[in-house]
Amino acid sequence: MRSFSALLTFSFLLWLASAPLAWGDAAKGAEYFQNPEQGNCQSCHYPDSRRLAGPGLKGVTQRHSEEWLEMFFKDPQKTWKSDHPETLELKERVRKTRVPVTVCRKQNIAAENYQNLMDYLKSLQD
Ligand code: HEC
Repeated sequence: MRSFSALLTFSFLLWLASAPLAWGDAAKGAEYFQNPEQGNCQSCHYPDSRRLAGPGLKGVTQRHSEEWLEMFFKDPQKTWKSDHPETLELKERVRKTRVPVTVCRKQNIAAENYQNLMDYLKSLQD
């Protein structure tokens, strides 16, 4: 019986320790977005609807599915070459239907940064 409750406590602690990875932290995502040493996304994107080198990212998680965003962040060039409807829509919107590569080249965002970044991007709405 004692070992069972020890196991229960251990499992609970393990669950607690893993929780922050599963739920992102938008403030950390904002830091990642802005920090030139990290994501450096702000060098090309405003968090509102103004255009910089890239589109303003306000409402981006409404324009795109999480599936597409994950694919794009993992491999922007491959996603750019695919005929996924969200890619075609983006190319039309930025008037680059004939441009073979995307300028947005951030790849392989580490898992913990990815969740935080997604939570931050979700917060960029009205
Ligand atoms: C060197 C400039 C540059 C950097 C740095 C950059 N992007 Fe981009 N991004 C672009 C451009 C430009 C596009 C539009 C596609 C194109 O023209 O190639 C784009 C497109 C996107 C899109 C699709 C937007 C839409 O409206 O559909 C998302 C999402 C995005 N970027 C997120 C990010 C994130 C997150 C980072 C940081 C990790 C980042 N970008 C860093 C230039 C950049």
